[in-house]
Amino acid sequence: MSVSPIRVLTGIKPSGTPHLGNYVGAIRPTVRASRQAGIESFLFLADYHALISTHDPARVQRSTLEIAATWLACGLDPERVTFYRQSDIPEIPELAWLLACVGGKGLLNRAHAYKAAVDQNTAAGREPDEGVSVGLFMYPVLMAADILMFNAHRVPVGRDQIQHVEMARDLAASFNHRYGEHFTLPEAVIDEQVATLPGLDGRKMSKSYDNVIALFAPREQLRRLIMSIVTDSRAPGEPKPVEGNAIFQLYQAFASPQEAAALARDYAAGIAWSEAKERLFERIDREIAPMRAAYDELMAHPERVEAILQAGAAKARALAAPLAQRLRRAVGLRPLTELAAVAPAAAAPKTGRPVFKQYREADGRFYFKLTDARGHVLLQSLGFDSPRAAGQAVARLKAEGWAGCADLHPLLQPPTDVAALEAALASLRAADD
Ligand code: TRP
Repeated sequence: MSVSPIRVLTGIKPSGTPHLGNYVGAIRPTVRASRQAGIESFLFLADYHALISTHDPARVQRSTLEIAATWLACGLDPERVTFYRQSDIPEIPELAWLLACVGGKGLLNRAHAYKAAVDQNTAAGREPDEGVSVGLFMYPVLMAADILMFNAHRVPVGRDQIQHVEMARDLAASFNHRYGEHFTLPEAVIDEQVATLPGLDGRKMSKSYDNVIALFAPREQLRRLIMSIVTDSRAPGEPKPVEGNAIFQLYQAFASPQEAAALARDYAAGIAWSEAKERLFERIDREIAPMRAAYDELMAHPERVEAILQAGAAKARALAAPLAQRLRRAVGLRPLTELAAVAPAAAAPKTGRPVFKQYREADGRFYFKLTDARGHVLLQSLGFDSPRAAGQAVARLKAEGWAGCADLHPLLQPPTDVAALEAALASLRAADD
């Protein structure tokens, strides 16, 4: 028996320039994980998502190229991984709409990104939804479509995205409940020990601190940036602590344990900061240089990146299109010829239900009747003084059946088919439960 592979899917928002922190914390581990056996890996550029925050077309295009080239240069193998651009898969926004139609608006009201925007507006005394696009509001629905389109089992994400994956589960469950089992319920996978790198100032490397080292900075610029890392005033010859030291931590992220141990010994022996930085620079450059060359080559040849993405889109659509087709049928978007074929079945009595109807007659009194699925009258009341009294009689008949309501019999016309009447009341009772 063959074990079906586990599907792992991740989206990358094409924005900003990747830095060493992104490489060590996300790109390198993801590329490594994608090479594992038993894993079927899907990785895509979430360019529809990028439109929510970027309204500059040239930047959207540029970022898409940069991020695609980065991942390819870092060793992502498009033969192994289904690597595609979200906007090349029209089935994804189509699915987003189908999900939107079973998703509660209240669910989206609770999404972190939206709530944060509303909170900020409220705190600043603005309209709650000021500056909030429908795209931002719908963000989790589109993300759910990304995930469910490929029936991914696992979605590796950062902590801030857990809620979105849970919403994808909720939407999948709602859809399955209404239309049948179409979707796998995905699970968020959080890497508990995501490596974070210190930046130039010793704080976590992050764009928001403006302390980053661009992943593919040219060699000389990389050197200059590393030389600018903030150090203390310990002089050459003075022993230096490795703990909490940014240079050492950066070195560790690239070096083997043996190399790191050697540098630790040199720290104890009083290596000069400038020399430690030189060692760090050479070590990082050794790993990055071949990838930088590959990156520069791809950036000079966007047509190669485009071709790779097109091939990825073809692979992805081979899966997405048949599922989308099934989903369309499932919700009722299907050829009318097919509808004609099912129409007689829809009219069959067992799909209908008995119904109570209450109404007022010209005599001013209140009546009800119970009809079966075909519209035949099973029970007809006499006139009641108030709609409330009629309603109470209906409720009792439903709850207790014909035989259970002997005291009401004088207020009702004698039924012609008691067995059918009891069966209809029983089915209404079951439906109410
Ligand atoms: N929202 C994710 C982020 O900001 C990107 C993303 C879009 C994504 N669609 C996805 C991640 C589907 C995982 C699965 O990082």
